[in-house]
Amino acid sequence: MSAGPRVVLVTGASSGIGEAVALQAAARGDHVVLVARGREALERVAADCERAGAGSTLVAPADMSDDDQVAAAVAAALAALGRLDVVVGSAGVVAYGRIDEVPVDVFDQVVATNLLGSVNLARHVLPVLRDQDDGALVLVGSLIGHISVPDMAAYVLSKWGVRALVRQLRVDNRDRPGVRFGYVAPGGVDTPIYRQAATYGDSVGMPPIPVDGPERVARRVLTVADRPWRGGQVGLSNDVIRFGFTALPWVYDRLVGPLFQVVAQDLVAPVVRGPGNVLASRQEHNRLRGGHRNPVGAMRANVAEVLRRRRG
Ligand SMILES: NC(=O)c1ccc[n+]([C@@H]2O[C@H](COP(=O)([O-])OP(=O)(O)OC[C@H]3O[C@@H](n4cnc5c(N)ncnc54)[C@H](OP(=O)(O)O)[C@@H]3O)[C@@H](O)[C@H]2O)c1
Repeated sequence: MSAGPRVVLVTGASSGIGEAVALQAAARGDHVVLVARGREALERVAADCERAGAGSTLVAPADMSDDDQVAAAVAAALAALGRLDVVVGSAGVVAYGRIDEVPVDVFDQVVATNLLGSVNLARHVLPVLRDQDDGALVLVGSLIGHISVPDMAAYVLSKWGVRALVRQLRVDNRDRPGVRFGYVAPGGVDTPIYRQAATYGDSVGMPPIPVDGPERVARRVLTVADRPWRGGQVGLSNDVIRFGFTALPWVYDRLVGPLFQVVAQDLVAPVVRGPGNVLASRQEHNRLRGGHRNPVGAMRANVAEVLRRRRG
């Protein structure tokens, strides 16, 4: 890994965790290549990266679910900068609702973005990293790639798949010891993803406690790019929840519904049903942070709402 400015390609760079990764890479003088669907939001982040000290910025709009577009974005990065040192897959979308409630095109697009998009990224980045025998691919998974939660089937399946993909990449590329594959699984992070989500259930999502800032996850992503063994869960609470899921499935399956309702759904916010940003970018809502209210206050309001509904 070169000590000077590095070439860092980030997908999902126009919002939340991906934006935080781009800004932190820029602050250390790296060349940043910014990928997402919406060009204007990417240009906003590019301007912020330049102010933060980026060696250079390149905006390369692409839909991760479209293999040709991903190939073109990677080719543009190589044409401009000649190599890739760190590639971060952070593009992601969410759909809420049971399998029978979420329309098929929305369900499939969540999987196509989160899982097949990560495969597309690997497909075009691998030949470059393997030729260099150097560089890192870090994929952002989720705690939800280790457990099941109500009303998030498409997201759950996609994130279990991302976790499998990282392991598969490690096994397949053992002949290139210089190439590193990293995995980071955040819990709740204050980003716009919850309000951007497709919603077909009875309530809208919110980040569950403890809520991290995107900057903390971004720091972990960039650490993992150099030291992949530092990857995995962000936060101790992830380990506690995974233990419950694995060791006490009978208890977990009974408790997760009511608990999820109180800690991960906003029962008092108005429900606007629709595809959110799953089928097309809503880049005007992309930003670094989600601006969610204090999670303890939100949970208190949820408990009051549950009691109010029970009273009838
Ligand atoms: N926030 C959390 O609590 C949390 C927890 C665990 C894991 N994660 C994971 O962290 C990653 C980043 O999430 P975030 O919270 O930062 O979300 P976010 O703020 O909503 O950002 C999502 C980014 O992905 C881009 N994107 C969405 N669909 C795309 C597509 N088809 N092709 C290319 N880019 C696409 C969006 O831009 P465009 O819409 O313009 O394309 C945006 O830049 C995701 O993989 C998510 O699953 C988040």
